[in-house]
Amino acid sequence: MTFYDEVGGYATFERIVDGFYREVALDPVLKPMYPEEDLGPAAERFTLFLVQYWGGPTTYGERRGHPRLRMRHMPFRVDSDARDRWLRCMRTSLDEIQLSPLHDATLWDYLDRAAHAMVNTMEHPGIRPTPAGRTELPTREVSQDSTENT
Ligand code: HEM
Repeated sequence: MTFYDEVGGYATFERIVDGFYREVALDPVLKPMYPEEDLGPAAERFTLFLVQYWGGPTTYGERRGHPRLRMRHMPFRVDSDARDRWLRCMRTSLDEIQLSPLHDATLWDYLDRAAHAMVNTMEHPGIRPTPAGRTELPTREVSQDSTENT
């Protein structure tokens, strides 16, 4: 008996992911990050990934290969704000599904850690690359005195 079986199999993961993407579609930061207007295919990839991770069928791997999740998220700007929004969407969905407290805590612990690991930029949102590709840092007046003899 795997975690996958215990929580009710494919249908349960599908419900979790459907609720999650319903929230993503309402989020002004997350929604534009998703390349396809229709979130259906993304929802299916995520469902299949979770199903495989928790001991269900390995369809994800057959279709997508090794998950390489950090690498696959590199094209997207995942900062702490995006992470927190992602987690909030997931929390809303899990609250609706009402798994047993132990199953909920186990799943949430994993998702929370995975989301923290997915962050790929520490930059302050106000600092953006310039068209020339160089990062523009906030400028600060430096007095003559402080730079002399250093
Ligand atoms: C931390 C905030 C996160 C953001 C902003 C984010 C955003 C995205 C985006 C924009 C995509 C592309 C959609 C697509 O075409 O599939 C994606 C794909 C995916 N994400 Fe995330 N994600 C986050 C965290 C996570 C976490 C924690 C997991 C796993 C527990 C995860 C699992 C996946 C999977 C499995 C895919 C599809 C990978 C594939 O192409 O096969 N994501 N994510």
